Order: sequence, then structure tokens, then C-alpha cells
Amino acid sequence: RPLLDPLPPLPALHASLGFAIFAFLATLYLVPAVGPTFVKARLFGRDLLKPYDSQIPESQGLVCASIYILLLILFIPFAFSDVFLDFHEGHQEKPPEGLVVTEFPHYKLSVYLSSLLSLLIATMLGFLDDVFDIRWRHKLPIPIIASIPLLIVYYSERGNTNVVVPIPLRWLFGSLINLGPLYYVYMSLLSTFSTNSINILAGINGSETSQALIIALSVILNDLLYLPWTIDLHIPLHLLGSQAEVEFGGVWKAGMAYGSRELVERHMFSLYFMLPLVGVCAGFLYHNWYPARAFPGDTLCYVTGMAFAVVGIQAHFSKTLLLFFIPQIFNFLLSCPQLFGLIPCPRHRVPRFDKETGLLYPSKAGLPQSKKPPSKLAILVLQVFSALGFIELSVDPETGLLETTNLTILNTLLVRFGPRKENELVKLLIYTQIAGSVFAFIVRYGLAGLVYDG
Ligand code: UD1
Ligand code: MG
Repeated sequence: RPLLDPLPPLPALHASLGFAIFAFLATLYLVPAVGPTFVKARLFGRDLLKPYDSQIPESQGLVCASIYILLLILFIPFAFSDVFLDFHEGHQEKPPEGLVVTEFPHYKLSVYLSSLLSLLIATMLGFLDDVFDIRWRHKLPIPIIASIPLLIVYYSERGNTNVVVPIPLRWLFGSLINLGPLYYVYMSLLSTFSTNSINILAGINGSETSQALIIALSVILNDLLYLPWTIDLHIPLHLLGSQAEVEFGGVWKAGMAYGSRELVERHMFSLYFMLPLVGVCAGFLYHNWYPARAFPGDTLCYVTGMAFAVVGIQAHFSKTLLLFFIPQIFNFLLSCPQLFGLIPCPRHRVPRFDKETGLLYPSKAGLPQSKKPPSKLAILVLQVFSALGFIELSVDPETGLLETTNLTILNTLLVRFGPRKENELVKLLIYTQIAGSVFAFIVRYGLAGLVYDG
């Protein structure tokens, strides 16, 4: 195998950047333009954390998703521009009519199309959820089904199903475990997790959109590390994964020994999907920022979540991707007792708005003593969370009712840092997300060397 395969097309990356800018401008313009139409179609919501009662267009994630998916479809010829260039410049002998089929990278097209299919299903599910308020128990399995096209493509490529065992556990499991079908179960759950975890970390202006934006930017930064034209960092190759390690020993230096073309192409693919997503999210954040003039609805949460699952699976970095979801993982684990019915879960768990002070306070869920007293397990879980400082337990002096602050990261932030204004709380959430990403990069490229040897 030659040290340097021909490079994938750089012009495609430039085009993708152009598409991202267009996505940003289109979202910026279209969201307020179609707002009244959404309200007319009764797609509006009330801002729960404001003194006013106006109708704010909801499910505007549909506008974002439409722009995003249409642009991704328009981008297809650009993604394959190297094929056209090769023929045009005579690098490849132009095959006779009808034989072109054998030369065209159909595999890559199926990667792209299966990704679009998953995004479309996510859009549909999100929008239906906005319209019909599907119970979360019922909507959990749908992203699993939506991920099947991705899994089949992964399978067709004989994608890796091994996990590398950390050094301290090797005496027990050996250095590699082949999870086989279980790995596919894990990947399908990834899509359910990424879609729903953003949706349940929601309810304050800008929260859903900023999470998606930061995760997308983190994925982009991670992709750039693998491209030969970009950042010239000296990263020991084994930290970039076993494939790069096998092919080139020593230190990775951009543009010199960038690993296989396959690795570069996968991360290019991820960039094609992430750059326009950043454009859309940034454009939408402008309207969704405090005080929000537009709500994302479940549609935005589902589409962005699915986009992350898509790139994580197709570009083979699902475990790194999960590292960018640390706040969402925390929020999900914290939420479990409420999600699975151990502790009562009100329809909205967003913080409580106090009209007098204009501040947000942790919202509470009561545990009725009379009808269905909380189980021993519920009390134990609450005591552990409370000891860890995630929640505050109290007893209502009038009714004697045991109360807990709702089990979400937003309430936890308020418990830890005290009451805040909504725009301050969303900034706190943003800092948490950024800190999570910094931590993710440290773990992935710094600490991994201590636990794994490549
Ligand atoms: C999820 C959460 C719920 C949270 C809600 C807020 C779980 C299990 N579910 O439910 O606790 O209250 O998201 O989105 O954790 N809204 C605002 N300000 C915003 C964004 C939304 O007030 O910045 C309100 C609006 O009234 C909007 C509604 O939230 O209409 C949207 O809620 P929806 O997305 O339908 O809630 P779920 O996703 O079901
Ligand atoms: Mg929602």
C-alpha cells in the first residue's frame, strides 16, 4: 500500500463550508419569515419562564431540518466531485458507456443516502411528537428502527465490532473483545440516546440549540485532527485509533503521514454533515436566544441528535462521540428515577420562574405519602443524590409532603449555584457543555494512552 493514497477532494470541503454559510443565512431569514404561518397552524407554545403569555412559534426545528436536509441533498454531487474530476482530467480512463457503474463508489453513496434516510425519519418523528405529544415511552423505539439503514451499511463494510479492553482488565478479558451483534445493539441505542437526551435537557431559551451547536463544533474539531491539510499537531498515532497505528508508526503530523485515505474520507463525510448543521444551529440560535422569538420543538432535538448518531456510526467514532455527550449522559442518569416511574415526573420539569424576582429556582416534585408512598428504593436514590449535592430534599411544612427538586441538570445547576436569570442559566449550561468537550478531548487524546496502548 502506497504511503500516500491520492487525497480526497479538498474542493468538496470548501463547497461544504459554503453550504454551511448558506444554511446559516437561510435559517436566519426563514425562521422569522414563516413564524406567523406556524402560529396560524396552531404550532406555538407559551414561554413557561416569562411573565408574558404570547404565542411563540414552536417546532421551528422543522425549518432548520428542511434547510439542512435539502442542502445535504444538493451537496451530493460535490461530495463525489473527485469522481467527476478524475474522469474530466483523464486521470482515470473514461470507461465506455454503461461500465461507469463499476468505477463509481456506490458504497460511499449508500453511506450518504442511508444517513439522509435516518435524518428524514428523525424529522418526521420529531414533528409528529410536536403535533401529537407522543408519550416518551412510545417514541423511544423509533430512532432504533431509524438507525437500521446505518447499521446495514456498517455491516456491509465489515465495520469493527471489537472493543479494546483497558490495560488493567486485560488479564481477565484479553486485549480485544468482539461484541459482535451486541455492538449493533449498542449503535442502535446510540441513536435513541442522542435524540432523546437533547430533548430532555430542554425548556430554557437556547438550551437545545446551544447543546447541538457545541457538540457539532466539537465533532468538527475532532474531524479536523484527522485531515492532512489542517492542524499540524504532533499526536502519537496510537491515540488516533488502531487503524492509523497499524498503517503508520510513530508520530502523526498533518499532511505528512495522515493515515489511510479511508480514515480521511470518513472524517470528511462527518464534516459534510456537521458544517451545515453548525450553520443551521447558529442561525436558529439567534432567534431562540433569550428572550426567545422561536422554539425549536422536538423536531430540532431529534434531527440534531440523529445527525450526531449518523456521523458517529458512519465515520466510526461513536465512542468519542459519546464523550461529547457528558452533560446529556449525566442528565439522563439523573433523570432515570423520574423517567422510569420510581419518582413522580411532572409534564414539565423546567425550573420555576418567580415573577417577583425574575429569577429561576429549582422546580419541585412532591412525593405523596397517602396514595402511593415512595418506595424504599426511591427514598434511597433520593438520599444518595441529595448527599452528592445533585438535588435538594425538603418537607412541605403544611402538608408534611416530602419534596425533591426535579432530577435534571438545569435544576442541579440552580441548586449548586443558586437562583439565576434564564439567560445566565443557559450560559452556565453552555460552559458546562464546553467543559465537557474539553474533558472529552483530554480523555480521548491525553489519558487514553494511560489506559490503552493503541
Ligand atoms: C421535555 C422535558 C420536560 C421539559 C420540556 C421543555 C423530560 C422527561 N421532559 O419534554 O421536563 O419541561 O422538555 O422543553 O425531561 N419551553 C419554554 N422555553 C423554552 C423551550 C420550551 O418555555 O426555551 C416550553 C414551551 O412551553 C414549549 C414546551 O416547553 O411549548 C415544549 O415542550 P416539549 O418539547 O413538548 O416537551 P417534551 O420534549 O415532551
Ligand atoms: Mg421537547
